[in-house]
Amino acid sequence: MTKRIGILTGGGDAPGLNAVIRGVTYPLIQAGFEVIGFHLGWKGILEQDYEVLTLERVNDIHRQGGTILGSSRTNVYKRENGVELVKQAYKETGLQALIAVGGDDTLGVASKLFDDGLNVIGVPKTIDNDVNATDYTFGFDTAINRVMETLDWLHTTTKAHRRVMVVEIMGRTAGWITLHGGIAGGAHFILIPEMDFDIDDFAKEVQIAYKKNNYLIIAVAEGADDPKLRAHIMHSAEKDEFGHAQLWSGIGIGEVLAKEIGDRTGLETRAVVLGHLQRGGNPSAFDRVLGTRFGVKAAELVKEKNWGKMVALKGSTIGTSPLADAITTLKHVTEERYNDASIFFG
Ligand code: F6P
Repeated sequence: MTKRIGILTGGGDAPGLNAVIRGVTYPLIQAGFEVIGFHLGWKGILEQDYEVLTLERVNDIHRQGGTILGSSRTNVYKRENGVELVKQAYKETGLQALIAVGGDDTLGVASKLFDDGLNVIGVPKTIDNDVNATDYTFGFDTAINRVMETLDWLHTTTKAHRRVMVVEIMGRTAGWITLHGGIAGGAHFILIPEMDFDIDDFAKEVQIAYKKNNYLIIAVAEGADDPKLRAHIMHSAEKDEFGHAQLWSGIGIGEVLAKEIGDRTGLETRAVVLGHLQRGGNPSAFDRVLGTRFGVKAAELVKEKNWGKMVALKGSTIGTSPLADAITTLKHVTEERYNDASIFFG
């Protein structure tokens, strides 16, 4: 009987997902396995909605963004009989193992399913770069390059009009994209969820820095917070199945901060919300290569029957970590890293 391996991509998409799918499929088919891809993350396995992946189907897809399998934020453990349905699908589709590609939410489900007796392997993905136990996730490099490029563009128009530009960047609880994108794109200030700020003190710093530069770019992560501003931030009350607020909807920190800075300083201030521009488009070279290496390593784990592991980048080597380690905590920006960036503020 052909040995069948399933793969799914869950959570917010990240450039490099297709590189993983190709990276898994090639070596497994070459080793005599059949690979099936479930559509739309965990939803696909719950509904037994899948396709057989061939070499033709995955040929050259590593250059494309998004995911050929589609993705969703479906949580198996929030669905009625979810675990039973997954176990049934696992059995009925004849799986020997399942490869789950996703961030901490998707990997959390994968880890629980492993504890529940399924052969599962995880591949870490997120533009946020906040998965513990791996130095980098793919998608992050593409996102920070997008932020850098956008800040480069914003410098010229902001400078021409002598304005203050507040740029809202993705990152609900981790500020990695804002930190790296902000450094690379020459933001005059960087505000992230890990470091509290006070709008009154910050407005004073803005005034001083404006006098020096005649314009300012402020990079702010969507989850950055001064409790005093919370009342002005209006997001949809809806949460996804993992309990995350939808920070992109309504009025976010970028617009609120721009108004508060304008009111306090009298400077002409504008806000730009980069949103899903950071996740769209084709992956950078780094993410194409990292996704490919992660996929090939996941295929190796399948051949070794090394279940319950997540592939991980450690230095320049692709290693593994127990799936459980990936989800114990999120990887946050440290004070030290933030302080390094703050040397250039103002
Ligand atoms: O988890 C990645 C991420 O891009 C976050 O940075 C962002 O807050 C969130 O997804 C947006 O999710 P969605 O596309 O579901 O609105």
